[in-house]
Amino acid sequence: MGMLHKTALLSCFSIICLFATSYAQSCSDYTFTNNNLYTACNSLPALSSFLHWNYHQSNHTVDIAYRHTGVTTSNWVVWSLNPGGRGMIGAQCLVAFVNSSGVPHPYTSPISGYDTRLQEGPLSFRVPSMAAEFRNNQMIIYATVELPPGSTSFTNVWQHGDLSGGVPRQHPSTPDHLGSFATIDFASGRTSDTGAASGGSRQRRRNVHGVLNVVSWGILMPLGAMAARYLKVFKAANPAWFYLHVACQVSAYGVGVGGWATGLKLGSDSPGVEQTTHRNIGISLFALATLQVFALLLRPKPEHKYRFYWNIYHHLIGYTVIVLSIVNIFEGFDILDPEKKWKRAYIGVLIALGVNAVLLESFTWYVVLKRKGEPSESDKHTHTGTTNGVNGYGA
Ligand SMILES: *[C@@H]1O[C@H](CO)[C@@H](O)[C@H](O)[C@H]1NC(C)=O
Ligand SMILES: *[C@@H]1O[C@H](CO)[C@@H](O)[C@H](O)[C@H]1NC(C)=O
Repeated sequence: MGMLHKTALLSCFSIICLFATSYAQSCSDYTFTNNNLYTACNSLPALSSFLHWNYHQSNHTVDIAYRHTGVTTSNWVVWSLNPGGRGMIGAQCLVAFVNSSGVPHPYTSPISGYDTRLQEGPLSFRVPSMAAEFRNNQMIIYATVELPPGSTSFTNVWQHGDLSGGVPRQHPSTPDHLGSFATIDFASGRTSDTGAASGGSRQRRRNVHGVLNVVSWGILMPLGAMAARYLKVFKAANPAWFYLHVACQVSAYGVGVGGWATGLKLGSDSPGVEQTTHRNIGISLFALATLQVFALLLRPKPEHKYRFYWNIYHHLIGYTVIVLSIVNIFEGFDILDPEKKWKRAYIGVLIALGVNAVLLESFTWYVVLKRKGEPSESDKHTHTGTTNGVNGYGA
């Protein structure tokens, strides 16, 4: 049992580590299709964007590759320097969007007022070369910029918005869109966030919130439920399945409550972000899961006449929690809007769990029906041990 505990916990931790490391790698490990190499890279604090660059001291130029993920062909994307200010007015923009010919169109646009439609025009500094690439819901702007003299540290502002009839429209005004600026020193690589409410730490908290909740509510809990439902049928796995089930659900609950708490804090720090459904489902989930943990203490003995009703209750709440968790994770993906690959990765995990569940379900029914042929055997096994009760296989 000790061994099983350790194996269960170990697999839980490796899932968490896997997610955490791949999140961390998304900046410096990126390989560009043109094989350009950039020595510096910064994961920008908002709008799932990344800046890669090489600074040349000899001629005070910088080669940049700006990646803006999670956009479509009906979005425009901007990366800009604002040599004289902090926000939008005065921003010297590199713009790109997929135009009516179906190719990414890069151009420059200086912003002088809030009513801009990002009209083409020359910038206050030279941009000797510029290109754009659209691939996998990601726009990449490549450019060489002659930095304004006297400094290597500039405010950069980045943004995306919708196109309408091939013309850029105003960007949304969620906290992410209003906080997408930061100061970057191209020589030292140092950044200081100037975006609203320390955007950098907010992006980190959003990532932490996402990873904790996907791993706990979205992966460990369904795994724990599968351990209970499908291992129970093996005689050799009794009562190991019970400990595996408890280990998975208790660690999932522990990590999940952490993720839930980061969500509450994030929610209260992000006024104006549409999140009511996500928040309400999250609060219900916490209540149901807590109920489930405490109901363990009230679990009647297997022979007790109320145990049958307790089992029904336990299954009902358990499956409700799993379904609601999955629904809420997709709600969360819509709010955080991370790179598409995260959503796809989670859909992959769900499909894998689903396929396994279907196979194991058929196997279980096969075993149960076979045992029905030998009633005394089956009776003996479903009612031994302290952990078994009515198991829901047509008993
Ligand atoms: C700036 O200098 C680097 C080498 O130091 C060179 O590779 C690059 O082409 C120069 N850029 C411009 C625009 O002159
Ligand atoms: C679309 O962008 C490409 C690349 O900049 C350009 O050559 C082409 O003329 C543009 N098409 C239209 C219809 O503007």
